[in-house]
Amino acid sequence: MAALEESGTATGAGGRVLRAPGTDGACVFVKHFGAEGIPFGRRLHAVLSAFLPVGIWSASPLLGARGLMAREWRKSAAFRAAGIAVPDLSAAGPEALATADAGPDGQAVLKRLRRAGDAAGHDALLVALAASLGRIHAAGLCHGRPHPRDTAPGEDGEIVWFDFEEEPEAVMPLLDAQARDLWLLFLQVCERAMDEGTPARALAAYRQAAPAGVAPRLSVHLGRASWTLALGRLLLRLHAGKDLRRYVGATLCLRELLGTEAPAVVPAWSAEAGLPIR
Ligand SMILES: Nc1ncnc2c1ncn2[C@@H]1O[C@H](COP(=O)(O)OP(=O)(O)O)[C@@H](O)[C@H]1O
Ligand SMILES: [Mg+2]
Repeated sequence: MAALEESGTATGAGGRVLRAPGTDGACVFVKHFGAEGIPFGRRLHAVLSAFLPVGIWSASPLLGARGLMAREWRKSAAFRAAGIAVPDLSAAGPEALATADAGPDGQAVLKRLRRAGDAAGHDALLVALAASLGRIHAAGLCHGRPHPRDTAPGEDGEIVWFDFEEEPEAVMPLLDAQARDLWLLFLQVCERAMDEGTPARALAAYRQAAPAGVAPRLSVHLGRASWTLALGRLLLRLHAGKDLRRYVGATLCLRELLGTEAPAVVPAWSAEAGLPIR
């Protein structure tokens, strides 16, 4: 690729993702996988994974820059092969990838719609994200950390997905990894929804295509995480932290949505995949 001129950094990218003009004048995003090393938080998460009481909290295998780049490349190719929209990728160095600019990311679009007071358009995008995740899961895939800022909603309503740095399906059965995807996306849906009926509509949209077992599996995991809500509520009385308030609020919303009760018997095995989960 011809010399890339930095024209700004992408949001939330910590300086390792740059938006730059490509050879044909169209913009590309260049992601430098080696720019920040393995962050301390990721290392800690990997160590703690052996002790975490909820299996779906486990960390993906820790990889260096080239491994992360290969993972992004591989998962993006699997999505493309399954008919899920992803941006075109090309190598931009031994530890860097260039991706075609897919347009404003989902988080930016949601913010714009919220500012414009377009609650219907805003919540329709949340529902579309959930429906798209359902199709991803139906194809036997898992995103790893689905978030509006790792998507670009196209004009035609199709959702483009990128940022495949997590691979929970490498350390847990696919159904659990998909349940975790559902959990992560719905933390966003529940927190952001402008209309109170939107999370239920989004879940129905997800379920239209998704494998039937994913939502019940998430119910099991959320039931097992009940103690975190009790602890979270207690901590909120002492200190009203924004992140904690979000976690408690969105998890309660999701539990209600899924009709989650703490399971009387906690399964020690994933019956579907025949693999042990904690
Ligand atoms: N192909 C793309 N099209 C549009 N926006 C992109 C693209 N790639 C990255 N971005 C923007 O850059 C941000 C960071 O890129 P991402 O690949 O998600 O890296 P990170 O691992 O730092 O989150 C995204 O949230 C999005 O705003
Ligand atoms: Mg990202």
